[in-house]
Amino acid sequence: MDLSQHTYEISLEWTGARGTGTQDYRSYGRDHVVRAAGLPDLPGTADPTFHGDKDRWNPEQLLLAALSQCHMLSYLHIAVKRGVVVTGYTDEAAGTLRLNRDGSGEFTEAVLRPRVTLADEAQRELADTLHAEANRVCFIARSVNFPVQHEPVAPEPERSEDPDEYAGTFYAQIGGKETFRRLAAKFYEGVAADPEFRAMYPEEDLGPAAERLQLFLEQYWGGPKTYSETRGHPRLRMRHMPYKVNSAARDKWLAHMRAAVESLELPPLQHEVLWDYLERAAHSLVNTPDQPHSQGLRLL
Ligand code: HEM
Repeated sequence: MDLSQHTYEISLEWTGARGTGTQDYRSYGRDHVVRAAGLPDLPGTADPTFHGDKDRWNPEQLLLAALSQCHMLSYLHIAVKRGVVVTGYTDEAAGTLRLNRDGSGEFTEAVLRPRVTLADEAQRELADTLHAEANRVCFIARSVNFPVQHEPVAPEPERSEDPDEYAGTFYAQIGGKETFRRLAAKFYEGVAADPEFRAMYPEEDLGPAAERLQLFLEQYWGGPKTYSETRGHPRLRMRHMPYKVNSAARDKWLAHMRAAVESLELPPLQHEVLWDYLERAAHSLVNTPDQPHSQGLRLL
């Protein structure tokens, strides 16, 4: 038996014939099933751009998956050889496909972004160098004619489990994350029910906006720094520049925020501290002067 040769077998069945078959480009489905003995069926299709179904796997994704799997397996093997103890591994891989005028196409590059967790951070530098070695031996990377790059991603910052971490901060005093979650949710509930004001918010789903507001306020009041870690420096004035914040918008914002703060039923002193800040912040974010005639009216 020749141990230097291995063969692999899969079977494939096209399930998209729809009775009409390939009469024209739209008459048939791209769906198919990939099978291998003893394994769950793999629902396959084409890329949705090419009449496929977004709920099934397409060959481009599978090629990328094969590269990502292969790199990881090679990496883990090399880690053992080099005495590096890896305790976690994730990858966010991306591939670029170039389409040609004649309908052909090819991958021009794949980039793997492995995030490796180590038992001992002191081995980080050595661990990072092992990707090049993994790339050199990976069966799939060696079998494709485009470069497979790797850009190791730094590990997630350690999340402290210590419940006292924020002790003494205003964030902790008013109930921590849950309070800020309720505050942002209530505020956006009010926004959602106010069509005129709602129109200022560009996204269809207010959920992400609520989360951004929650994380910002948590950070401001001494809680987790997730806002800056995910969004960068707050620069709130700059971030509000795309929106026309005049005194009417400010007052609307404050009205919805007042209802949200009141719903928390905080002790009077804490209520006052929080409200005072929000009111001042809202005034500082006005970036659009009122129409001259309305200012004139106000003077009367
Ligand atoms: C003065 C009236 C205000 C108006 C009309 C207003 C309006 C908006 C709008 C339309 C957005 C975009 C939604 C999104 O994508 O997140 C936004 C984002 C945001 N607003 Fe306001 N806002 C006001 C005041 C405030 C105040 C006082 C704060 C904080 C105390 C605040 C904090 C935020 C934050 C954290 C974001 C998300 C920024 C990001 O990370 O992209 N806003 N605001």
